[in-house]
Amino acid sequence: LDIAGPNSPFIMVVGGLGYIGSHTVLELLKENYNVLVVDDLSNSYESVLHRIKALATEHFATLNKSMPALHFRQLDYRSPHMRSVLASYTSYTIASKLDASVPVETIPNALPRGFPFATLQRTDSGIDMDTDEPSDAVLRRESRISGVIHFAAYKSVEESIRMPLKYYSNNVCGMVDFLSLLEEFGIKNFVFSSSATVYGEGANCGLPLREELCVHHPESFFDNEGVERRMLPGVMGLTSPYGRSKFMCESILADIARSDPTWSITALRYFNPVGCHESGILGEDPRQKPSNLIPVIATVLTGAKPVLDIFGTDWDTPDGTAVRDFIHVVDLARGHIAALAASAAGRIKAPFRTYNLGTGRGHTVREVLNSLEETAGRSIPVREVGRRAGDVGFCVAEVQRAETELTWRAEKTLADCSVDVWNFTRARFSSSSSPSVIFSVIS
Ligand code: NAD
Ligand code: WQD
Repeated sequence: LDIAGPNSPFIMVVGGLGYIGSHTVLELLKENYNVLVVDDLSNSYESVLHRIKALATEHFATLNKSMPALHFRQLDYRSPHMRSVLASYTSYTIASKLDASVPVETIPNALPRGFPFATLQRTDSGIDMDTDEPSDAVLRRESRISGVIHFAAYKSVEESIRMPLKYYSNNVCGMVDFLSLLEEFGIKNFVFSSSATVYGEGANCGLPLREELCVHHPESFFDNEGVERRMLPGVMGLTSPYGRSKFMCESILADIARSDPTWSITALRYFNPVGCHESGILGEDPRQKPSNLIPVIATVLTGAKPVLDIFGTDWDTPDGTAVRDFIHVVDLARGHIAALAASAAGRIKAPFRTYNLGTGRGHTVREVLNSLEETAGRSIPVREVGRRAGDVGFCVAEVQRAETELTWRAEKTLADCSVDVWNFTRARFSSSSSPSVIFSVIS
């Protein structure tokens, strides 16, 4: 199946200008996919689109090849305008029992919901849209969008506790309506941004997390001793509305796939995405104040924040700080392409399947800190404080399923992440303010 190439269809990337989305769009282009980005810029900037274009242009110039298409629509994916966006990537063909297929140009871009396709009449001048009479004519509709990667969501754990409806509206209700629309247009290849957060308190087990620990329908699996076990669905101590929104979305997707196995849905459970593109041009650049470990360290390195609070030094880990599976965002981006390719090649046997995207290796908060200090060549002031509410001590991926079925594995190390983050951080502050002012705060 030709899924990548100049005449290939489009991959629609919703939330494609955010942190993970932007790196994924660049990797998709580099793999020759045409890309349609939809983003409302609620947590990103249009300048990211120009950065992606610049990097892709440079990539293809080096290869002396032309670049695939990159389209952008600034739109809330919950907006009614999404229907006309999808319609503009749809071609209609009228096929009658008497006649060969004839392309129809007279069909308007935005057909109303529930349009009675089966009752379209062929007339000498084209299609009579007004008739209710049954006819032999059949409308064939084909979308140029062959797959969707759905990143659009709000992601602050803390804000979700204060404003749960905002999160359920965008992350859950938004996705439900969007899926109905996709179904209407026959687009059934869907990659969902899920999270290790769905393992909840279960993540504290101190062992790599297997996908079977969070299932949506009863599921059999073999434990480490090869004994068959039956996992029952359940929300395992999810600590925030954000976490629950991801669990709910996965459950909804599992139900859809069960009701209609022609869907191909992969839920990718990201562990801790970090790092950025090696150019230092593309990185994590949110409108929201960062709260994740490495972006916070970056703000300390630039002097925007005087000290890093270490949340918890009494975990049952080698140095008492929490252990996480930090995955480089470019590896993560490539995981999405692996999922699309595996689905197109028929390697994913179930209509709904979950995959952990992590490295399988844990690092403590202190190891991360040391790595960035070494890379930046300066010390980072810290203050040890108590555990952050809702945190777990250990969260590392079991990666075998993704390695076997997606033929994907993370390649970059924590040191690579530190180099790239420092590169991006340095490039940004040196273009916006004077380094001497920034570093005087640290020294
Ligand atoms: P991000 O905020 O940087 O990117 C999300 C993008 O979606 C932003 O560009 C935002 O403007 C856009 N967006 C949000 N709501 C929208 C809407 N209604 N319509 C259109 N665009 C909308 O976040 P990210 O870190 O790139 O995360 C992407 C996805 O991965 C999210 O679903 C997030 O929950 C999930 N995830 C992220 C992490 C992480 O640590 N970054 C971990 C696990 C899962
Ligand atoms: C990592 C470790 C902190 C900041 C979160 C979400 C999760 C997912 C990824 C989207 C923890 C410690 C942090 C700081 C610190 N997002 N830390 N000082 O909590 O593993 O996961 O982001 O799905 O749902 O919960 O990532 O980077 O916030 O924290 O000591 O200033 O760093 O306590 O132990 P987390 P994180």
